[in-house]
Amino acid sequence: MDKAYFITATGTDIGKTWLTAGLLAACRARGAPVRALKPVMSGYDPARHEDSDIAKVGAGRTAWVYAAPLSPDLAAAKEGKAIDFDALLSWCRGEIDRNDGLLLIEGVGGAMVPLTVRHTVRDWIAALGVPTLLVCGSYLGALSHTLTALAALREAGVVPAIIVVNESAGSTVSLEDTLASLAPHVGGISLVALRRDDTAGVARLSETLLGSGT
Ligand SMILES: Nc1ncnc2c1ncn2[C@@H]1O[C@H](COP(=O)(O)OP(=O)(O)O)[C@@H](O)[C@H]1O
Ligand SMILES: [Mg+2]
Repeated sequence: MDKAYFITATGTDIGKTWLTAGLLAACRARGAPVRALKPVMSGYDPARHEDSDIAKVGAGRTAWVYAAPLSPDLAAAKEGKAIDFDALLSWCRGEIDRNDGLLLIEGVGGAMVPLTVRHTVRDWIAALGVPTLLVCGSYLGALSHTLTALAALREAGVVPAIIVVNESAGSTVSLEDTLASLAPHVGGISLVALRRDDTAGVARLSETLLGSGT
């Protein structure tokens, strides 16, 4: 059961960390070995560590954690640094190789957020070659954001294994309508809908991840 999944999204605040933390809890509840990585993070305040994505998914602090609440390339630049893309890849590959359970890799921001002057998150996903979950919302405008992210990922050779349609807070568009509109445009990719605080839905998704060969 050595499996890794990359969790990306159409943007920031869509639910990557919520989903990752929920999947961790669901896997642990059924005794399945699981852990999560948050390799790249911006907006990290050590004084509020407990509120950080790193703490929420129980990940260790890596070399690519930055203070400024900006895209990772800009946050690194504010510290006079640049993300070493090759070093990030080899670190992730090492973690994937030595993994002996389910490994969840939370991305950063959306699928097209810049990491370096030459790379965005989609290049990171493509280089790792692990199955991907694309998390999207149900807010008005989410359909275009989702299909745009999907097209961008495809252009880099990444076809998500699953699109997680995560109900947005206060959404004026129903989850059902969002699914109905997306379905004919996603080329058969499986769509998983999650309502607000849908721990049962996350538990079902965890079983899919643990059990399937995707
Ligand atoms: N399905 C959901 N039910 C309840 N709260 C959610 C759900 N999805 C996201 N949230 C909340 O929305 C906020 C943003 O989600 P988060 O997972 O931090 O986004 P991301 O990691 O993509 O930036 C957080 O407060 C998170 O707990
Ligand atoms: Mg997050």
